[in-house]
Amino acid sequence: MAEVIIVRDQEEAGSIAASLVVEQLQRKPDTVLGLATGSTPLSTYAALAATIRDMGLDVSQVRGFALDEYLGVPPEHPQSYRSVITSEVVVPLGLTPSLIHTPRGFGTGVQASGDEYESAILAAGGIDIQILGIGTNGHVGFNEPGSSLASTTRIKALAAQTRADNARFFGSPGDVPTHCVTQGLGTIQRARQLVLLAFGPAKASAVAAALDGPVSASVPGSIVQLHPRATVIVDEEAAALLQHADYHRMARAGVAGLGLG
Ligand code: PGA
Repeated sequence: MAEVIIVRDQEEAGSIAASLVVEQLQRKPDTVLGLATGSTPLSTYAALAATIRDMGLDVSQVRGFALDEYLGVPPEHPQSYRSVITSEVVVPLGLTPSLIHTPRGFGTGVQASGDEYESAILAAGGIDIQILGIGTNGHVGFNEPGSSLASTTRIKALAAQTRADNARFFGSPGDVPTHCVTQGLGTIQRARQLVLLAFGPAKASAVAAALDGPVSASVPGSIVQLHPRATVIVDEEAAALLQHADYHRMARAGVAGLGLG
């Protein structure tokens, strides 16, 4: 079972997730990060930026791969994930821009960009720690319900629900791109550590289906059940429908109280 941590608020979640990333950075200065976009990881990136600054960590060798990119959106567009990763991660954390990658979703030859991205991840030695959100429909990355559990980076169509959820970034659902290039569920599974975060009541049913339901292509987030090292950090609202919430609270309080250091 994934470790499930139920927190007070996004700030606490961000600080726990950031501490997992920092432990990894201390073990391996050229760590390969898997980077999610969207609203969910923002408190993690903010906590990480503050910790890097406070500890004076050298992150110049850190490498990174974004989970996904919109298709047909120029990299300089403010809502391209290249722009979002630059402004929310690369700049605040002080990462080396040339070491941070997003799938190529624009220009000629985009059909090849999934395979190129897989090769680049492989050449980097694989992703050490992957930050993930989950969509209201259970997607991770842009792997919409029905995605193969073994999929690799490829072009996918966005679900209507996802386009509606992301309309806040574009003005209207009609302005949200229809397609993307996303790491596959197989790609995500190969990351050595997963940290999935979810907040708010709109995520409660997706979180419960992912953690308590069957592992299924219908709920892409359920791949966390198969991963040997997955941590799921949720607030009370997102945890509201979890079958084993009391167990998760008890497990966390129990370990903390054992004084094992
Ligand atoms: P959000 O999106 O963080 O903006 O809620 C999560 C996701 O779609 O994976």
